[in-house]
Amino acid sequence: MSVLLDISQIDMVFPTPKGPFTALQGVDLKIKKGEFVSLIGHSGCGKSTVLNVVAGLYQATTGGVILNGKEVSEPGPERAVVFQNHSLLPWLTAYENVELAVKQVFGNTKSKAEMKEWIEHNLTLVHMDHAMHKRPDEISGGMKQRVGIARALAMQPEVLLMDEPFGALDALTRAHMQDSLMEIQNELNNTVIMITHDVDEAVLLSDRIVMMTNGPAATVGEILDVELERPRDRLTLAEDPEYNRLRSEVLKFLYEKQRKVEDIGKHKAKSKATKKESEAA
Ligand SMILES: Nc1ncnc2c1ncn2[C@@H]1O[C@H](COP(=O)(O)OP(=O)(O)OP(=O)(O)O)[C@@H](O)[C@H]1O
Ligand SMILES: [Mg+2]
Repeated sequence: MSVLLDISQIDMVFPTPKGPFTALQGVDLKIKKGEFVSLIGHSGCGKSTVLNVVAGLYQATTGGVILNGKEVSEPGPERAVVFQNHSLLPWLTAYENVELAVKQVFGNTKSKAEMKEWIEHNLTLVHMDHAMHKRPDEISGGMKQRVGIARALAMQPEVLLMDEPFGALDALTRAHMQDSLMEIQNELNNTVIMITHDVDEAVLLSDRIVMMTNGPAATVGEILDVELERPRDRLTLAEDPEYNRLRSEVLKFLYEKQRKVEDIGKHKAKSKATKKESEAA
């Protein structure tokens, strides 16, 4: 299968008051149509920066992103983004929030009836049809995330970008959301990049897990292929040896090969102290 999204040798250098800061160096990733890829790595390594470059919100310092043969230079509806905290307009109902996005993408190409049907269809996909005329302050956090996902799906993006979409939810709601995302994926086969901190979530949902090294100058460390059969069921997988192998590969990468930033800080402080001690001796 051919490459749909080509993230090619991206460097990202941010200007800061203390001088230039290299967040990403040589990030290279090719994604095929219909692939579900997750990005995992310690906090601050540069996952959101990668996503923001793909979204067109940041321009890479060097390198670039090509989607379907066209270079990405600004945000566009063919790359819908779902953020960790819902970004719904508080004065609009769930239905109206989706409608706004659909109108932006499809303009006048759909009739009133087609428009209504399409919005309702997408809200049904995320099981929000029963509350579609409620405003964000009248629904729970998980429900708001569902609306955010419905809004993104309704835009029929070529790539769906999700930055920790379930990060703010409790474990049970999160599991429900993962299950519905798998159902939707089963039906629509979207191309997805999802950032997560959750190892189980990454293995459960992905076709590939991209593990990033710690910054500064973070890059793709290792890539793990997840070839577990679909549909996947969390309970069955819990006892599956391949599932557990993949899970421990990710854990090994994160906690053995890439130590936590705080640990590196501690290590540096310790080795400085040891150096001083030995100098004093
Ligand atoms: N606009 C910016 N200006 C300067 N530095 C930035 C900017 N955006 C991000 N950075 C820095 O780049 C690095 C990567 O940040 P990024 O937000 O991509 O990390 P992350 O992996 O998404 O972290 P988290 O898991 O905590 O969300 C961090 O050191 C951050 O401080
Ligand atoms: Mg982030």
